[in-house]
Amino acid sequence: MTTDPVVREYPDDTWADSGPTRGVEAVVESGHVLAFPHLPFAIAEAERRFLDARWADGKAKNVSLRWPRGDLRGAAGAPADLEALKRMIVRYAEQSEAFALRLFPHYRGKLRRGNTSFRPIGVLGRPRSWRQDDTRLHVDAFPSNPMRGTRLLRVFCNVNPSGEPRRWRVGEPFEAHARRYLGAIGKPWPGSAWLLTTLGITKRRRTGYDHLMLQLHDLAKADLAFQRSSPQQAVDFAPGTTWVCYSDQVLHAAMGGQHMMEQTFYLDAPDLAHPETAPLAILERLTGRPLLV
Ligand code: SIN
Ligand code: FE
Repeated sequence: MTTDPVVREYPDDTWADSGPTRGVEAVVESGHVLAFPHLPFAIAEAERRFLDARWADGKAKNVSLRWPRGDLRGAAGAPADLEALKRMIVRYAEQSEAFALRLFPHYRGKLRRGNTSFRPIGVLGRPRSWRQDDTRLHVDAFPSNPMRGTRLLRVFCNVNPSGEPRRWRVGEPFEAHARRYLGAIGKPWPGSAWLLTTLGITKRRRTGYDHLMLQLHDLAKADLAFQRSSPQQAVDFAPGTTWVCYSDQVLHAAMGGQHMMEQTFYLDAPDLAHPETAPLAILERLTGRPLLV
């Protein structure tokens, strides 16, 4: 049997357009993680002080910028410090966006910038409920934020100053994962999507796709035998490494590390280079029904 490693490495050492890798839509859309071990996010001397958990306000999971306004959330400090912190995160947003559009020119004019986050808190720093526990393998899906088929592309960079890797596990291909649990997933209660929107629990109406994605997320995290014994590999992303994946497709778990930048992008499924490889298309094929209803 030939093996197809989930992580593919590339030699790029610049975020700029002159870097060598471009046109790799098919690689990321087929469920790979693109890793760039020589692509650090440059942190200025005066910014090193931000690599400290004290800048997180203790309430939010991360420090983040919300676009289009670029409001800073989840940070605590004096206004001048927060301005400097914001400038650092904005720089990551801009560099990672230019980089994504070089890697994936097919997405030009279609990729939308989501939140940018800075994660100065250690992965193992906070006890959480099993559903929020990202040390368990999962695909990203959020109860309050139905994606309705829209993809979640993420660009991560480990900015740890003391050599500590971001330690991930990556798991089985999406289709195998869906086949594992589809039989156990019931239909949503009639009227539940309407009710969740009316009560303000969901930002927009949950579709059949969102129901299945949330169930996959929850069933995987609740299944300790799956967590322990399913096909998986450990991957350490050393400081200075940038990596890119569709986190709604790649089974992933964060096992350790501290200090990371992350940029989320949204892309509507029809705008993919190969829409037939998307979770939406795979789930529609496996269930035999349209899921954006
Ligand atoms: C996650 O997306 O599940 C967490 C990724 C990380 O914090 O490294
Ligand atoms: Fe995740």
